[in-house]
Amino acid sequence: MSVSPSRQSRLAEVLALGRVIPVITIDRPEDAVPLACALVAGGVRLLEITLRTPHGLAGAEAIIREVPDAVVGIGTVLTPSDLRRAEEIGARFALSPGATPALLDAAAAAGIPFMPGVATASELMEAMARGFGTAKFFPATAAGGLAYLKALAGPFPQARFCPTGGITEQNAAEWLAQPNVVAVGGSWLTPAADVAAGRWDAITAHAAHAQEHLRGAAAR
Ligand code: 3PG
Repeated sequence: MSVSPSRQSRLAEVLALGRVIPVITIDRPEDAVPLACALVAGGVRLLEITLRTPHGLAGAEAIIREVPDAVVGIGTVLTPSDLRRAEEIGARFALSPGATPALLDAAAAAGIPFMPGVATASELMEAMARGFGTAKFFPATAAGGLAYLKALAGPFPQARFCPTGGITEQNAAEWLAQPNVVAVGGSWLTPAADVAAGRWDAITAHAAHAQEHLRGAAAR
């Protein structure tokens, strides 16, 4: 089974809303809404809320309910049941660090736009065989960095990537300048110390600064 073209175009519409996706791990449920508000105030609307803590899903639900300008994706989707839960709460997209056949099959049949995670040509081929032409490249730096991504453009000129893992404010522009990169993700936009201290203004300022700094990166 292959993912429908209309679902891939919904993914493209979502990704057109921003080029930086903060990868967010919710440690305290009460942080979810103010954190999302702070990022949106800084111009960052696409959010990846990971399922790495027990608060991820409830936090994402609260953001969907209370922060209408946030566009919530669920990350660390490891199983078909994670994907179902993301869809049930009304997330706009979902991402995985990997691409098991079971997850790819479930994602191809589901309704939610999905980005599988790939780090090798074979994983990308498994994803593309089911119609997933845009993938999370994870762990981007450890898997071979920019040189690796540029090499993948040779045999897979049509594939598009959202690299995450080791992306920083300093190197994000370089990644975004690659023609096969649609967006970059990472935890650098939500420093743990700022979240723990509830320094929401600092998060807004950081997000706004990142947007400004990356404005010059080549367009897709
Ligand atoms: C992810 O899931 O995308 C990564 O854990 C984010 O990696 P980073 O912390 O290096 O940005």
